[in-house]
Amino acid sequence: MLLKDRVAIITGGGSGIGQGVAGRFAKEGAKLMLVDLNPAGLEETAAQVKDAGAEVETFEADVSVTEQVEAFFAKTVEHFGRLDICVNNAGIGNPPAPLVQMTDEGFDRTVAVNLRGVFLCMRAAGRQMLQQGDGGRIISVASQAGKTGFAFLSPYCATKAGVILMSKAMAKEVGASNITVNVVCPGTIDTPLLHGTLDPIIEAQGTTLEEWALKSGSPIPLNRIGYPRDVANLITFLASDDADYMTGQAINISGGQEMH
Ligand SMILES: NC(=O)c1ccc[n+]([C@@H]2O[C@H](COP(=O)([O-])OP(=O)(O)OC[C@H]3O[C@@H](n4cnc5c(N)ncnc54)[C@H](O)[C@@H]3O)[C@@H](O)[C@H]2O)c1
Repeated sequence: MLLKDRVAIITGGGSGIGQGVAGRFAKEGAKLMLVDLNPAGLEETAAQVKDAGAEVETFEADVSVTEQVEAFFAKTVEHFGRLDICVNNAGIGNPPAPLVQMTDEGFDRTVAVNLRGVFLCMRAAGRQMLQQGDGGRIISVASQAGKTGFAFLSPYCATKAGVILMSKAMAKEVGASNITVNVVCPGTIDTPLLHGTLDPIIEAQGTTLEEWALKSGSPIPLNRIGYPRDVANLITFLASDDADYMTGQAINISGGQEMH
């Protein structure tokens, strides 16, 4: 087991990539605090990881609200005694629109969840890990959209680029305390978030997500879309001892769709 008895917070643990990470962490022996806005999703993931034998707690919270973030970090330490790994995965897409038509609300909410939310979790995780004094792992889920601009997704791209640079800055600040700070940049991953954005287009064209992605999106050299387990594999590596000499990296997990 790669993560035996490590205590991990996973935000956005009630769906998609967060659910995939929770499942893999459970198999690797981690103890889990799952955080999400959606109580039904939290229950579903908690039931899955309990079946896999994991110790799990859930916390319904909005990662963009300081008090709620402080509360789930405090609860994690109260319940499990410490924090080893923080996976900042909760995120939203912006309502697709050209920048010149983007609303203030669309911009502000995307920034609040995807950038402020990750900042609040990085800060709380860093404080706890520095206080413990024996290192830690902070892993945030950005996107290939944080490296390449995508039309109609300007706020989303900006927040993901922000997460990448915020992580590189923090990596330099806490490296001497053996806290690593890394980012994963998924490509096209089959999750409810992606379906929410693309289903109207896919249904109108009478195709599937995979067919659409391979024909209409940017090329995927490995010739398939990704699944939460693909991202979970990378995050598990970054959380494990095998990655103890890596920090400040933003790693693509996209079948080659994004290469820089
Ligand atoms: N699916 C993709 O193709 C893809 C690609 C690149 C990056 N990502 C990123 O991966 C992460 C996970 O996305 P996903 O595709 O699994 O989406 P998803 O919608 O399936 O899951 C996201 C989860 O985050 C939760 N959430 C949203 N806002 C929240 C908030 N304010 N506080 C707490 N929880 C909140 C949702 O309730 C949901 O359970 C996101 O950061 C997303 O931007 C996804």
